[in-house]
Formats: sequence, C-alpha cells, structure tokens
Amino acid sequence: MKLFLDTADINEITDLNKTGMVDGITTNPSLIAKSGRNIIQTIEEICGIVSGPVSAEVTATDYDGMMREGARLAEIASNVTVKLPLTVDGLRACASLSEDNIMVNVTLCFSTAQALLAAKAGASFISPFVGRLDDIGADGMKLISEIAEIYANYDYSTEILVASVRGVQHVVDAALIGADVATIPPKIMSQMYKHPLTDKGLADFLSDWESTGQSIL
Ligand code: E4P
Repeated sequence: MKLFLDTADINEITDLNKTGMVDGITTNPSLIAKSGRNIIQTIEEICGIVSGPVSAEVTATDYDGMMREGARLAEIASNVTVKLPLTVDGLRACASLSEDNIMVNVTLCFSTAQALLAAKAGASFISPFVGRLDDIGADGMKLISEIAEIYANYDYSTEILVASVRGVQHVVDAALIGADVATIPPKIMSQMYKHPLTDKGLADFLSDWESTGQSIL
C-alpha cells in the first residue's frame, strides 16, 4: 500500500520523507491556504523533495478554466497530478488531461456512483473522503469496499486513494480492503510507528543492557 502525506507544509514533508515511507503528497486549496505560501512555488518545492505523485488542485470550476489551470500545474514537474473536483466539468477535464498523459486525481468523491464515473473518465486516482462521511454519520469505509469491488469487476486501473483520513485505524481498514493509497496527515504517519509495548520493551532492554556494563562497539 502506498502512503501519501496530506500536507503542503515543506518542513513536515522534508522530515517525514527521510523515513522512506512517503510515496507521494496530496494538497488542496485549504492546505495551501494553511501554508500561507504561493501554490506554484510550494508545489515546485514539494516536487523537488518527493519523487512520487504530488497532487495540486485547480480552483476553476468550468471546463476551460480547469484545462488552463491543469496545464499550468502540470508543467511545474512531471510528477504533478492535477486534482479536479468530481463535477461534470471536472470529469470532462479529467478525460481530456488523461488523454494528454497528465495524471489526474479526482477529488471530493462521496459515492460509489461518482467513483464509477471517475474511472470511466480515465482518472489515475479517485479520492473518496472517508472522514467527512464518518463525520455526518455515514460509513466512509463501506464506500471504499464498494469502489474496490466495482473497480475489480471491470478491471479499472484507477487507483483508490483514501482521503480525509482521521486516524491510524482508517489506514489499517483501508489496507484490509486493499485500497491502493491512503493519504494521511503527518501526525497520523508518526502515530503509525507508536505502540506502548514497543516503548516499554525498549526501555526494559536498555536497562537490562546497562546492567551488563557491556558495549557493542
Ligand atoms: C486529500 O486529498 C483531501 O483533500 C484531504 O484528505 C481532505 O481531508 P479533510 O477532510 O481532513 O479536510
């Protein structure tokens, strides 16, 4: 399973990229706003750090505007994935950009029917938002299962990119279903390393080792 970081924060990306666990990055207009930086410069810098797909989202809502913004974002680097909203114009732009061999991540997916349309439009990635569905009392992970089943039925190559991840269990549940990617906030990637028994076990080993007075080197 691939793990993407869901952030536009260069420091967080630089730090976590050193772990070797970061397969790509997703950003959105809210994350760019939070960074307080220019989108073009930020995406350019991220692409210089991470070699996997880096999603950069358009803000135009009409087909022509999305095509122009998508082309501008795609020219930043070869690993830019143009992120388009799941609307009629967004899926039209998805088909056109995909035909031009530009990777597209279709975002704001909240239903199985929407995911089916995105695959038909040739999206490289579909981003179902599990956390926002859970927030309104729906079952985000059920959506992932249904998309996985339908994509397998028709052998669609669109990758399922689980988005709006709220905790480690979302990542585990997505992996159990066989989702291709989970995009996760930096804090959750750090939490994935943690287990209290690992901390306790290490402390015990180190204290026993100290009592031997030995040194390996
Ligand atoms: C990523 O591609 C999405 O934009 C992001 O995961 C949304 O997360 P949120 O629901 O926490 O804003």
